[in-house]
Amino acid sequence: MLGPVKSLDAVMRHDSGEALAKTLSWPHLIALGVGAIVGTGIYTLTGVGAERAGPAVILAFAIAGAVCACAALAYAELATMIPAAGSAYTFSYTALGETAAWVVGWSLILEYSLACSTVAVGWSGYLVGWIQSAGIVLPHDLLVGPHAGGIINLPAVLVALAVMGMLIAGTRESATLNIVLVIIKLVALAVFITFALPAFNADNLHPFMPYGFGSTEIGGEKRGVMAAAAIVFFAFYGFDAVATSAEEAKNPGRDLTIGIVGSMLVCTVIYMAVAVAAVGALPFTQLANSPEPLALVLRSLGSPRAGHLIALAAVVALPSVILVMMYGQSRIFFTMARDGLLPRGLAKVSPRTGAPTLITLLTGVVIAAVAGFFRLDEIAELANAGTLLAFIAVGACLMVLRKRAPDMARLFRCPAPYVVGTLAILGCIYLLFSLPGSTIVRFLIWNAIGLIAYFAYGRRHSVLTSNATT
Ligand code: ALA
Repeated sequence: MLGPVKSLDAVMRHDSGEALAKTLSWPHLIALGVGAIVGTGIYTLTGVGAERAGPAVILAFAIAGAVCACAALAYAELATMIPAAGSAYTFSYTALGETAAWVVGWSLILEYSLACSTVAVGWSGYLVGWIQSAGIVLPHDLLVGPHAGGIINLPAVLVALAVMGMLIAGTRESATLNIVLVIIKLVALAVFITFALPAFNADNLHPFMPYGFGSTEIGGEKRGVMAAAAIVFFAFYGFDAVATSAEEAKNPGRDLTIGIVGSMLVCTVIYMAVAVAAVGALPFTQLANSPEPLALVLRSLGSPRAGHLIALAAVVALPSVILVMMYGQSRIFFTMARDGLLPRGLAKVSPRTGAPTLITLLTGVVIAAVAGFFRLDEIAELANAGTLLAFIAVGACLMVLRKRAPDMARLFRCPAPYVVGTLAILGCIYLLFSLPGSTIVRFLIWNAIGLIAYFAYGRRHSVLTSNATT
């Protein structure tokens, strides 16, 4: 029913001649994870989360972090067992079958592409706030999409196209730049906490859960702690960076567990501290839907310089999240096209730069268009829906492969796999159904289109199926 399964041998060929040096220990892995994870989720969606849950957005971060930690552990075992490009798509091809893999790959398009659009819109919010706070007036029509009375969010479009240009020119993230950006992002959050926490007013935390716990429709919007968790979930992805560095870990079994759980824990603690400082300093209603909530808090507290600093850090550091995600997207497309499920021409790599030019151009333009015309929260929610489905599949793959290939070598073994896998699946399902109904409908439409494309094209061109029948 789920289509042919790719054998583990077919995806798992290690080239022993190309082993990477084992230089990373758990502190490096935590730094890597935190660097890849921190972005628009904390810088911008904190405001949306506060609007949905009130001060209990603090709790929403804890819940989303716990679910992601389970998914991340499952991901790490699979990534070290099946070290091939394509992440959740490739795992699903092996464990669940081609049709399931297609649905996961098609959902990953939402995750990666829409995450880029979300970060581009978040970046634009900080850039515009930063410029305007310096007294420069910009034309409103070109700063927001039609949903907010404008024509187009031009800064978001431009940053997405600029990153696309960099990828086409062959840019990759560099380790040194990554460290610099991690430091900038974290120092800015530390500055935020230092300035906002002294203004903490316990009255702002009452009522703590004005909209209750479960996600329910109030005033035309989904509200409650789970509704907020379903959106701030965005703040946690990016941990694949840790899992995919398994080969370079000195002691993968120990270091990866500490690296993954540690970076989730560090991010959860940082996010909760930022959320406590933000909702403690201002009534949550003032944070709601601000395009630059952290800078807004500092400016409202009479610290405009610190506000500028936060905005500057966001403007400098957030494009790297777009770079990583857009690159990831091209890898997913590349793998699906290599498997014959998408037209092979899409996967053509430029001999000069090593980048898949056509697919990067296509995705870049779509990402820029979405960023130009749609609302930040709506884009992030659809990205989350795609990611949640991929994480559900990862939880299932973990358990299926433990049953089917229990003795196969695993560089990293997830502790209590059946408990972790089940928790990842249940947690993600709960988060998925906490998203607004309109997002779920869009997600179903997206997958319906995907399945039509699969049965019309992918299934008939699948390399696996043609190999089996010839
Ligand atoms: N976790 C990343 C961010 O928040 C995607 O920007």
